[in-house]
Amino acid sequence: MKIIKTKSYDELSSLAADILFEQVKRNPCSVLGLATGSTPIGSYDKLVQYYEAGMVSFNSVKTINLDEYCGLCESHEQSYRFFMNTHLFNRIDIKKENTFVPNGLAKDIYAECRHYDEIYESIGPCDIQLLGIGVNGHIGFNEPDSSLVASTHCVTLSESTRAANSRNFASLDDVPSKAITLGLAGIMKAKRVLLLASGKAKLEAIKKTVYGDIDPHVPASFLQLHSDVTVICDFDIGE
Ligand code: F6R
Repeated sequence: MKIIKTKSYDELSSLAADILFEQVKRNPCSVLGLATGSTPIGSYDKLVQYYEAGMVSFNSVKTINLDEYCGLCESHEQSYRFFMNTHLFNRIDIKKENTFVPNGLAKDIYAECRHYDEIYESIGPCDIQLLGIGVNGHIGFNEPDSSLVASTHCVTLSESTRAANSRNFASLDDVPSKAITLGLAGIMKAKRVLLLASGKAKLEAIKKTVYGDIDPHVPASFLQLHSDVTVICDFDIGE
């Protein structure tokens, strides 16, 4: 894994945005795997700046997101579709039909998961998969467990993840208990992985990811098996 330590969140965001920007400049038909959460917001803002400056077009880009809460509609402010529209898609020239986020309202969640894997197969693999990381080492919503699921699946969110994400909801009770997530196989299929971590709260998770054993209790540690991972963090992770 290549580890890059930045001095600030702003620098982390610029670096990640530049990697995505260069990918799209190199190949305007790139497929980008995208994440939500607070970490990538700065990078999305930078990409919007590049777009507004006329430096890049997303007209032929396709995106596939990692995950979505079950039970939230697209117009719910905490749904990940709403997040992506607000922070990126509505602000650039990407075609909405080229952006994919699991449907958290699907009546048959199992069928939705299979459908999402089919979408991935038809448009993937991602040229770059952007990832954040949970304090418990989750990537996407692949939560720590005694075993991990390869394909897209429905997960019960851990209490620590619900507590961490409750900052965006009126109360902890409002945080959905289930979500659909791309599995580890989908994440690992990406040609390149860009893992972002901001703030010391992520230090232990990143240390275990980079230096620890490959362990389903730290899902991000499986990235050690990928041949092209860049970790960008705004703190020192030592040796
Ligand atoms: C979101 C996602 C999650 C987040 C992680 C970190 O699509 O896949 O794995 O990346 O929970 O979230 P933040 O960035 O809010 O700390």
